[in-house]
Amino acid sequence: MNYTAVTSEHIEQFQKMLSADRILTDEENLLRCASDETEDFVFRPHVVLQPVSTEEISKIMKFCYEQNMAVTPRGAGTGLSGGALPVSGGIVLDMKRMNKIIHIDAENFQVTTEPGIITEELMQAVRKEGLFYPVDPSSKGSCFIGGNVAENSGGARAVKYGVVKDYVLNLEIVLPNGEILWTGANTLKNSTGYNLTQLIVGSEGTLAIVTKIVLKLLPPPTRNLLIFVPFHSTEEACRAVNKVFLAGYTPSALEFMEKDALVIAQNYLGVYPIQITGDLAAALLIEVDGNDEEQLMREMEGIVNVMEQFNPGEILFADNDTSKEALWKVRRVMGEAAKHSSTYKEEDTVVPRGRLPELMKKVKDLGSEYGFESICYGHAGDGNLHINILKRAMPDDAWKNILPEAIRKLFIYTRELGGTISGEHGIGYVQKSYMDIVFSETGISLQKQIKQLFDPKKILNPGKMFPDH
Ligand code: LAC
Ligand code: ZN
Repeated sequence: MNYTAVTSEHIEQFQKMLSADRILTDEENLLRCASDETEDFVFRPHVVLQPVSTEEISKIMKFCYEQNMAVTPRGAGTGLSGGALPVSGGIVLDMKRMNKIIHIDAENFQVTTEPGIITEELMQAVRKEGLFYPVDPSSKGSCFIGGNVAENSGGARAVKYGVVKDYVLNLEIVLPNGEILWTGANTLKNSTGYNLTQLIVGSEGTLAIVTKIVLKLLPPPTRNLLIFVPFHSTEEACRAVNKVFLAGYTPSALEFMEKDALVIAQNYLGVYPIQITGDLAAALLIEVDGNDEEQLMREMEGIVNVMEQFNPGEILFADNDTSKEALWKVRRVMGEAAKHSSTYKEEDTVVPRGRLPELMKKVKDLGSEYGFESICYGHAGDGNLHINILKRAMPDDAWKNILPEAIRKLFIYTRELGGTISGEHGIGYVQKSYMDIVFSETGISLQKQIKQLFDPKKILNPGKMFPDH
């Protein structure tokens, strides 16, 4: 696509829409908005705009639409599929100043918020009012709720509480032509018309800019228990996962980690709460939560009994908040640690939970066949495996030309298992050439027609989701 390049005349026009201190062309901000957490991409925008209101965004979009200029919305830049990369240059719409909680409606268990608030801050703010927003991506300390909505993020608690889509009731959005609308209603049920709200959730900033978010909240669980279960065999660890559910338990988290993931995470943090013994191959981190201590103890005992059938090592009970947090910190930092340890690609495959052992085996088999190393971890209770493919000793040529073939094979296998290529990170820039694996031509064509309806000039987050966009 050809977009109008941003000129000094355009900047002058922007000055009529937002104050000069929020129109940024300095090197530091251009570079900050040139990358996100995805691999090592750098795409410089021409200008970064920091709106503070829906009305400002509406004016900006109307103008950019008329001028045919590329606009890439940006949250905190923690994304792992390149959704925030301004691959066509142009304008980055940096949402960080729209970070206010508008209203906590405790009576109705809802919160209305702007998109630029850090997810954990939102969680803490509603918690103070005795309310619970459960969706906690590993990056909760730095990601924005708006980015979570854009990607339909998940995280460790999804296995019990669901993902972002399960909490979004209503959205205020700005269309690419500047029109403002609400997508639904602030109700727990809604059978009124097509579900525009859920169409926007997970649309990766390609259809509209989200400017206000209404989320459903829950009463908070008051207690939790956490165990760390080491295994001598990765296969046994994977096989144990589904048995927990088949035995009738729904943990609030069930995470899988290969030994190497534990090693790089602890080295990255420089703290070592987990002893890595010679025969450790993989581990599960299992949490249950609720309000009744005795009931939780019974559940955990039941889960431990399931684990015992798979020949685990010595199970570690985290018996206070500090040791729980230490274990979670190791788990949460894994993505960052993998990125730090080597040039890498992060895949986000998800399969029906019971097929996880087969997926895991295939990853390693393909690694042997194609000569790549991988470090895997993820939300095993959801069947969601984060596969970090590390470049390490792999020659440049193989990394560039052979690896995509291996990834394609892996994704085809994932689909054969009944799964799909992204569970929670999105398609964005890095997975778009694989969409044909999981959608028929008609499936892709329908999605492109939806894009066309919302954004006929394709100015919003160009270069994402579809191979030829
Ligand atoms: C995690 C991110 C990478 O689960 O999704 O840590
Ligand atoms: Zn994850």
